[in-house]
Amino acid sequence: MIRQFSQILLISLEKHIFINNLKYSTSALPRFSSEKYSIKRKNFGSLHDADLNYFRSLLSADRVITEESDVLPFNIDWIKNCRGQSKVVLKPKTTEEVSQILSYCNSKKLAVCPQGGNTGLVGGSVPVFDEIILHLGLMNKIISLDEISGALVCEAGCILENLDNHVREHNLIMPLDLGAKGSCHIGGNISTNAGGLRLLRYGNLHGSVLGIEAVKADGTIIDCLRTLKKDNTGYHLKHLFIGSEGTLGVVTKVAVHCPALPKAVTLGFFGVNCFENVLELYKSAKSSLGEILSAFEMADNGAISSTVENLKLSNPLGDFPFYVLIESSGSDEGHDNEKLNRFLTKEMETGHIIDGTVTSEPAKMRNIWNIRESIAGAGLVDGYVFKYDVSIPLQNYYDIVLLLRKRLGNKATRVYGYGHVGDGNIHINVTTPEYTKEVYEMLEPYIFEEVAKVRGSISAEHGVGFRKPQFIHYSKDETALHLMHGLKHFMDPNGILNPYKVLPD
Ligand code: FAD
Ligand code: MLT
Ligand code: ZN
Repeated sequence: MIRQFSQILLISLEKHIFINNLKYSTSALPRFSSEKYSIKRKNFGSLHDADLNYFRSLLSADRVITEESDVLPFNIDWIKNCRGQSKVVLKPKTTEEVSQILSYCNSKKLAVCPQGGNTGLVGGSVPVFDEIILHLGLMNKIISLDEISGALVCEAGCILENLDNHVREHNLIMPLDLGAKGSCHIGGNISTNAGGLRLLRYGNLHGSVLGIEAVKADGTIIDCLRTLKKDNTGYHLKHLFIGSEGTLGVVTKVAVHCPALPKAVTLGFFGVNCFENVLELYKSAKSSLGEILSAFEMADNGAISSTVENLKLSNPLGDFPFYVLIESSGSDEGHDNEKLNRFLTKEMETGHIIDGTVTSEPAKMRNIWNIRESIAGAGLVDGYVFKYDVSIPLQNYYDIVLLLRKRLGNKATRVYGYGHVGDGNIHINVTTPEYTKEVYEMLEPYIFEEVAKVRGSISAEHGVGFRKPQFIHYSKDETALHLMHGLKHFMDPNGILNPYKVLPD
């Protein structure tokens, strides 16, 4: 039976506080990535006092961070899997400063790791050895917003949630939303081609990004910062920087198309008995809700249990094998509710939905989204999380979770799946008390082989980063990899930008 959400008590947990506490509260530091994954340092220059003096003269001393304890958080990634050994963080405020830093580093063959909000999940945002960390956080100005076209222009270091709050005041929204919105930067989002919770509705960033300003490894500023929807003047160079994870250039400014703020939004959270019914529900939601369907997410019992047991969130529904979250967004409340009610009545009758709760109240919708978004961090409480992010054709979507459960047996604390069903993108988390090579070797490359068997992608939305270059061939053929290497060599002949990431040796 569909219950009103007001009858249900949810413990609200402020997710961004959780994210930050988690990162800095445990005393155990991850091992150095280079040792954990046996990586050899490439032949880059080493940082000297003269280099630091140059950076201080360029940026001012307070924007050249060298104190070991201050540099430490920039060396460690969000899931505490990777740890670099950088000695310095540079914090430019302008594109010109980025250009001068890169030009200098290129001339000295000093490697650089661009970093946004450091919420990346594949180790791309932290150095592997002593790369200079180029942190974009001080480049956080909103430059303009055209309320008519919806074109937002801003610097790369703007935090996604701040941008969303800003454009909402003008009846627009950002075309992307993710659990890390309180920390991630729009430059980081573009560099990873982040997907998230609204992709089903607004598509990926290759469609929403109108223009980009970026700095090449040699310091050249590439100005593709247009706000036009249509611009077929030659090669679409902005796409080189979308999803290239800081290996081809540093994104400094962006122009993004912001869609209209929907006037009527409703969110439902449903209990479902089996994965086949999740798919039936998705098929039906697409045809019954049509243009108002804005999100279709799923989480299995293990995923929701991890938020209940580890974060003390309360699950508003009973115990179900699967949970589905369906959001509708439209412009006419009456019309949207009519469609939604018809759809829900039908789906309860068919038995695809067993129980559920539906709400249009903003605070209550936030609470439901909080359960879904908190899954990303809940597993960390078990000790260690092996995280996977893959695209799989929908008919095979959930098989991988079942295979892994069987394969790992009692070696894992939990194995669960959740993700963006509407995009064919599943996240699989395997938790253990601590990292062990034994479990790592049971998971990789096995999981990528299984994904390749069904012609899926070994990285759906998080990127390749440091963790997957050696597995990229499961999803990219040799000719494509050859072209990628050629582009990298052309854009960054000395290979100083984010080495050890994305491209296999
Ligand atoms: P960082 O982590 O700092 O960097 C990511 C990569 O981009 C690195 O390779 C870095 O070198 C590069 N980079 C960063 N800024 C620049 C720049 N200005 N120029 C060039 N290169 C740059 N991802 C999704 O796709 N969908 C989700 O739903 C999602 N949910 C998440 C939920 C949580 C709780 C967390 C912690 C992460 C989630 N992520 C998700 C992953 C992550 O948030 C995204 O990849 C995000 O886009 C990274 O942005 P960032 O600013 O933190 O970048
Ligand atoms: C999500 O969809 O929650 C994110 O991509 C983060 C994760 O994979 O945990
Ligand atoms: Zn995701």
